Amino acid sequence: MPQKTRKQNKKSRKTNSKQTASSNGVHNQKAETLKELEEILKSVGPAAVDNEAYWQAVRNQFLYNGVHLYTNNGTIGILPHMVLQSQIETLKRAEIQSAEPSPVHYPGGGEARPKLAALINADPSEVAFTRNSTESMNIIAMGLDLKPGDEILTTTHEHSGGWTCWQNRQIQFGNPIRKVDLHDPPEDEDEIVNLFEAAIRPETRVLSFCHITCTTAWRLPIKKICKMARKHGLITVVDGAQSIGMVEVDVKDMGCDFFVSSTHKWLFAPKGSGMLYIDDAAENLIGLGYFTHGGQLTAGRFENHGSQSLAPMVGFAVAVDFHNVIGGSLIEDRGATMAEYLKSHLSDIPGVKLWTPMSRELSASMASFSIGGMSSSDVCNPLRERYKIHSRGLHEGGYHGARMSCAIHNTYEEMDKVIEAISEIAANRC
Ligand SMILES: Cc1ncc(COP(=O)(O)O)c(C=O)c1O
Repeated sequence: MPQKTRKQNKKSRKTNSKQTASSNGVHNQKAETLKELEEILKSVGPAAVDNEAYWQAVRNQFLYNGVHLYTNNGTIGILPHMVLQSQIETLKRAEIQSAEPSPVHYPGGGEARPKLAALINADPSEVAFTRNSTESMNIIAMGLDLKPGDEILTTTHEHSGGWTCWQNRQIQFGNPIRKVDLHDPPEDEDEIVNLFEAAIRPETRVLSFCHITCTTAWRLPIKKICKMARKHGLITVVDGAQSIGMVEVDVKDMGCDFFVSSTHKWLFAPKGSGMLYIDDAAENLIGLGYFTHGGQLTAGRFENHGSQSLAPMVGFAVAVDFHNVIGGSLIEDRGATMAEYLKSHLSDIPGVKLWTPMSRELSASMASFSIGGMSSSDVCNPLRERYKIHSRGLHEGGYHGARMSCAIHNTYEEMDKVIEAISEIAANRC
């Protein structure tokens, strides 16, 4: 896709969607059930990364009307109709207390755990539901069984959700923290692994870092970092806030001790839903959390098991099903292909500095950039106010600029609007 000009791309995209979308009108519908979703997607041709009719049918599943262009999935996702409806129905039925069977079959809340575990190749006993990555990171940071001198090694790219937890740890227990400085885009995976390894000292005990950075949208080589860290006897904590739903996650293959994610971003699970993975072999590294339910030594002991609404868990189970119908590998490919298109055009704009590598090994579905001489708000405010484009400003790590997301509901037409807006902002910057 990025090799063609934007004009050529537009032309081939139009032909492609005309051919397939005209077959019938089913593709315009919003599915209530998985079966309906499967039928809709079957009606629009192959599930292929460049079949725009297929992606239009996926986009139609969202309530999103596209008036304001939403390219900030990295902060929070927007819900497919099915996920929202399943929650609304669960909420209503709880209040009505009807004994009648539901007119629409949705999975039960209890199915969320095995579905999530299967998605990331974990055992159900290794996952806990939390409200978000911030909460999961705090559970780990405050619960790890460390000596006062044990050092936490992290990076200059952490989001406050993956960073303030360690500050709290330091205030309460005195553990020193140090940061690996990652600034310029890496050439390859080994460069990152070597930087981490060079920073390890005898007192280092924990390595805490992002899978996909919230700043530069780099994809770090988790498997290689964890392997290296294990060699040095370190505990690995991976902040995968951006990962689940954006890229395929296999926690066993990664080999980390702890993994957290905000499933309300790329998995399109209900807002306020996140997760915590504790590798079975790492259970004894962590004691108590701020909330610890009695019983067995499993990740689930950190969940609040008190009475609460079932709706978010039902919505969560539906979100995993929705994701699986499209397929994790196709979703990852679609996002990365669209991000390549965006990055290749952004890097052609005079004054724009791209912070996200082009390589798929080192990036995924987001693109971060800065415009010479402009602060984050100089870039994001006109994007929002003049062009109605929602982006995310870069604040951490000394970067200034914006980050854009390429989610399954985004289109190439939207990316063209983003490119045009950024070209104009960069041209008028002085
Ligand atoms: C890498 C990273 N960690 C943590 C967070 C915090 O996520 P949440 O607010 O869902 O806890 C974010 C949010 O964007 C993030 O990108």
